Amino acid sequence: MSILRACLGLLLVLFATAARADEPPVFDATQRRLIRSFGPWPPAFRIDSGNPLSGRPEAVRFGAVLFAEPRLSKNGALACQNCHQPQHGWAEPVARSHGLDRLDRNAPGLLDSRLHRWFGWDGASDSLWAAAIRPILDPREMGGSTAIVADLLRRDPALACLARQADDAAATSPDDESLLVLAARALAAFQETLVSPRTAFDDFRDALLTNDHAVMARYPVSAQRGLALFTSRGQCATCHSGPAFTNGEFHDTGMPFFVIGADGTRGVDPGRHRGIARLKANPFNRLGRYNADPQSPAVLPVRHVAQQHRNWGEFKVPSLRSLLFTGPYMHDGSKPDLASVVQHYSDLDEDRLHSDGEAILRPLRLSAEESRDLVAFLQSLSAPAVAAASDYETLKAEARRLCP
Ligand code: HEC
Ligand code: HEC
Repeated sequence: MSILRACLGLLLVLFATAARADEPPVFDATQRRLIRSFGPWPPAFRIDSGNPLSGRPEAVRFGAVLFAEPRLSKNGALACQNCHQPQHGWAEPVARSHGLDRLDRNAPGLLDSRLHRWFGWDGASDSLWAAAIRPILDPREMGGSTAIVADLLRRDPALACLARQADDAAATSPDDESLLVLAARALAAFQETLVSPRTAFDDFRDALLTNDHAVMARYPVSAQRGLALFTSRGQCATCHSGPAFTNGEFHDTGMPFFVIGADGTRGVDPGRHRGIARLKANPFNRLGRYNADPQSPAVLPVRHVAQQHRNWGEFKVPSLRSLLFTGPYMHDGSKPDLASVVQHYSDLDEDRLHSDGEAILRPLRLSAEESRDLVAFLQSLSAPAVAAASDYETLKAEARRLCP
């Protein structure tokens, strides 16, 4: 009899636990405010006033063609799309990219990059178009030059035709640098069109705001619990905030900053510390002569940013949209999947972080279930269809038709 009672008791406990496990979390006012700030998606398009070609269809078309153009590189074999592959969320599925030489960092995805303020893991560029010049000229990436680009845009009939449609004055200028800037501005105009599609999370977020419980119920409970953790004890939203899940700035998350070079030598990647020096020295930054809108408030951050000790080992907070396609993760591509990123935050080395002055992060010591929930939430920020890959083909076909 008592055995029977014990069994019944155990069954009741099991049922109660199962029911609790499927119960969606309740979000408090602070969490609801945060969740609201992760949208709406997609955000309205805003032109970059520093780039006169921003938002112009002729430039978008030209930029798509240039993105696939290997002749921008020194050896004629490396195009942007080699390392930023449309089917991988415009990232490259290897830890560290290889251009003319092995690079120190992972190629980030380019979806939603128009929402960023700084470009590169170290923010060495302050506009999307300046960020397009860097890989062209970098001897370890494409190893090109102003002369190679200018020559190509003048001599190749199809490219010359597209360049004239995008910006006739620059395309016919005798000054090589104007042609380099034209190419970069068109590449930026194209990249501004790369936007992540709406996701299961976006439907949930919109439904939460209108208390539409039927739609909310379609979002997996595990992802909801992950979202609850993300917006509370996880503190993730302190840095991964806003519709693209980034505050646009730089932090040290305790990732190692040692790099092993192609020849086996050990070096360091100082991250934002050197990024600021490069930014200030870049003739194509927003303080330079090519910025089309020197009065814009976007000029202020680059004027006022100054190197500080704490910038050592800081890297840009990446967006968390479309992550399913853009692995491996982190600036050095050392985390192969989302579970290992979550484990990193769970096991953080506190001594290392606090000696670097980062005060936000604490090791989270997550349970196995909490880790799975966070991963489920991160996965829900990607939609199955990789955006814009077919638009890319359409744009290039259109360009070939207009300028054969
Ligand atoms: C050899 C591989 C490679 C090639 C070719 C390449 N990139 Fe990249 N790209 C990278 C890597 C690696 C990074 C990260 C660089 C860093 O942090 O300094 C990057 C960063 C970027 C970023 C900054 C993104 C962000 O969110 O911060 C942009 C924009 C970009 N590349 C555009 C381009 C364009 C446009 C081209 C062609 C002109 C190009 N890339 C060619 C590997 C490549
Ligand atoms: C202190 C700011 C900060 C906090 C808090 C933070 N992150 Fe990050 N996150 C970053 C930075 C910076 C990087 C890039 C680090 C690097 O590459 O060295 C990053 C990278 C990531 C990546 C990899 C994305 C990619 O494209 O490589 C994921 C996923 C991620 N964070 C999720 C989270 C989650 C989940 C939490 C909460 C548990 C969290 N982050 C908390 C700043 C933060």
